[in-house]
Amino acid sequence: MLLSKRAEMYLPQGWPAYFDRTDGCQVWDLDGNRFLDLGFMGVGTNILGYSDPAVDAAVREVIDKGNLSTLNAPEEVFLAERLVGLHPWAEMARFARSGGEACAIAVRIARAASGRDEVAFCGYHGWHDWYLAANLAADALDGHLLPGLEPAGVPRSLAGTSHPFAYNDLPALETLLSEHPGIGTIFMEPQRSTPPKAGFLEGVRELATRHGAVLIFDECTSGFRRPLGGLHLDLGVNPDMATFGKTLGNGYAITAIIGRSEVMQAAQQSFISSTFWTERIGPTAALAALAAMEAEDAPDRIHHIGDAVQRTWQEIATSAGLSLTVGGLPALASFTIPDRDAPTIKTFVTSRMLDQGFLAGPNLYTSIAHTPDILDEYFVALRSVFEEIAANDDDELRKQLPDGLAQSGFRRLT
Ligand SMILES: Cc1ncc(COP(=O)(O)O)c(C=O)c1O
Repeated sequence: MLLSKRAEMYLPQGWPAYFDRTDGCQVWDLDGNRFLDLGFMGVGTNILGYSDPAVDAAVREVIDKGNLSTLNAPEEVFLAERLVGLHPWAEMARFARSGGEACAIAVRIARAASGRDEVAFCGYHGWHDWYLAANLAADALDGHLLPGLEPAGVPRSLAGTSHPFAYNDLPALETLLSEHPGIGTIFMEPQRSTPPKAGFLEGVRELATRHGAVLIFDECTSGFRRPLGGLHLDLGVNPDMATFGKTLGNGYAITAIIGRSEVMQAAQQSFISSTFWTERIGPTAALAALAAMEAEDAPDRIHHIGDAVQRTWQEIATSAGLSLTVGGLPALASFTIPDRDAPTIKTFVTSRMLDQGFLAGPNLYTSIAHTPDILDEYFVALRSVFEEIAANDDDELRKQLPDGLAQSGFRRLT
């Protein structure tokens, strides 16, 4: 169902795969084993922790009162007001239930608004045809800029409609736009692993305006990990539209597209509509999650937790004699050990941490459920794993992984 939840992505034959219940950052598998999630926290959805009491209570109230009827749920209006209030440049909102779906809606609206079909994009934006069309390039292998995302089933006639560009390379984007006057949409995450170079985002904004292209910031993953809203608010550059997902409902399905009304109005000339986009749990969970995020100061806290995690990874690696590089936004932190084999290290860390009761690898998506006590426990366990890595070469580590290495996923362009 989701590439990045497949057990083989973590530990072939060893990963618990299915869960029974959750609480905070605890996950119980079907055999009743309890793990501490110091990894992806529901693929980045739960910054308040799993089973947040306030969000769950709001959802239970909806279940008691009714989730869907012939009439509309007022919560979608309240949520639109809330998101537009947090992003003063935006005037309208629409809602969906998955991130890729929100991105596909945004592209449809941007195409309708610009009157042009082609899209320049950077990074990952879901599974839909508009996006995978980039992997249909005639020189398929060279053109496989997102390895692992196969485009079988995507109409070949879409080849040449989506063009990738590299993050932080403004001249390359400028060339792309001048070579393809059919580009009417620029779709990107404002930041993922690498910070923007000085002037890069401002330059993208200027190019979009000059070429009459709609600029969309995909905040499906970066949103609400500081500040409360899109990361672009801190980066100081406004898009024409933005998409949100993941954290918005703290684990409940709700995603959003917000935008300037001039652009969003183009949706009136297109058919964009779906029954379950009007169910009530999604927007109710989002309103409760946003209230809790604000009350708990969650975006700021997870940023600081991630910052401390990145520093402690460095410290314990150095004291074990390893050279380690940290990456990502603090709340979406990752590490690599550059002079070692990445799949071996990832699988070995996952295996040894699992033995000690942690769902953990070289990534940590922070949550306010990652309290100091839990982090102390985590670092004690991780320190012992780093020491083992330092004491054994990659061949030796692989011998201790009889079921093979974790599969590697697709690479992002950001
Ligand atoms: C930036 C970005 N956009 C879109 C998506 C797709 O979201 P979903 O998996 O909810 O469809 C993701 C998921 O990882 C993402 O990171």
